[in-house]
Amino acid sequence: MIDYQNILNQISQKVTKDKNKGKIASYIPELATVDLNSFGIHLQLVSGEQFAVGDAHKSFSIQSISKVLSLAYAMSIIGTDLWKRLDVEPSGNPFNHLSLLELEEGIPRNPFINSGAIVIADILVSNLENPKSDFLNYIRDITGDNTIDYNYKVAQSEKETGFNNYAAANLLKSFNNLNNDVEVVLDFYFHQCALQMSCTQLSKAFHLFANKGKCLANKARLTKSQAKRINAIMLTCGFYDEAGEFAFEVGLPGKSGVGGGIVALLPNEFVISVWSPGLNERGNSKLGMKALEQFTTLANQSIF
Ligand code: DON
Repeated sequence: MIDYQNILNQISQKVTKDKNKGKIASYIPELATVDLNSFGIHLQLVSGEQFAVGDAHKSFSIQSISKVLSLAYAMSIIGTDLWKRLDVEPSGNPFNHLSLLELEEGIPRNPFINSGAIVIADILVSNLENPKSDFLNYIRDITGDNTIDYNYKVAQSEKETGFNNYAAANLLKSFNNLNNDVEVVLDFYFHQCALQMSCTQLSKAFHLFANKGKCLANKARLTKSQAKRINAIMLTCGFYDEAGEFAFEVGLPGKSGVGGGIVALLPNEFVISVWSPGLNERGNSKLGMKALEQFTTLANQSIF
């Protein structure tokens, strides 16, 4: 029997001692208002038990972690047709890199770089009656928590400074890979990224990827095969140009966001969410990566 609580306590004590906690993202000005010392971990076992340490219940901006949830929602609606409009290859480039998109004629490398997530947002806008409220309800439903909401200030802040995303959406449009208005799709995309959730809520939301497509309430939200494929994309593309390093150090599928959150999971076993807002040079949570490396080492559990 693994003493998970003891492991989380040890990790928190060790990792938070680091004087270099990374840098808070400031290219979305509203993100820069959080406390660099925030640190939390939540572990949800598929068997039902949960463990937490630090700021596990404090909510933060989940940013690109939302791209896994929007992909899951889009896949559950349109299935494999989605892959006509984007690929599943790691990009080896930062999340907002654009030149590959032009070279590859408007087909994003994968659904987790910004251009890929904007295509997914376009699919959801085309298929949902009220995209923002339907997506929020989907998140609340899979998490079993009606208190989850968008942070409207963060969404507005990103809209005001989102020049790179406007460039990506316009480039997609020029290649006929965006069906709706740029403004409408980006408004949805900025809100999905501005979802405000805690580590606890994230672990519950991601339960379906660890549990063959079934959410915490045991309802099938994805097929087993769809859950398997999304986990594969998290492993190969979840950390952009640091995906190899994350697989090497941690050995789990996962997804990061510039709000400093990381969610990772071991299929059939657990979901673990970490939040530490300071980022490393590649835009992933510096202490979050260290904490997860420690976790898979101390618990002796990874996919490898
Ligand atoms: O589009 C953006 O730039 C942000 N809303 C999301 C970026 C992000 O979280 C990248 N991942 N680490």
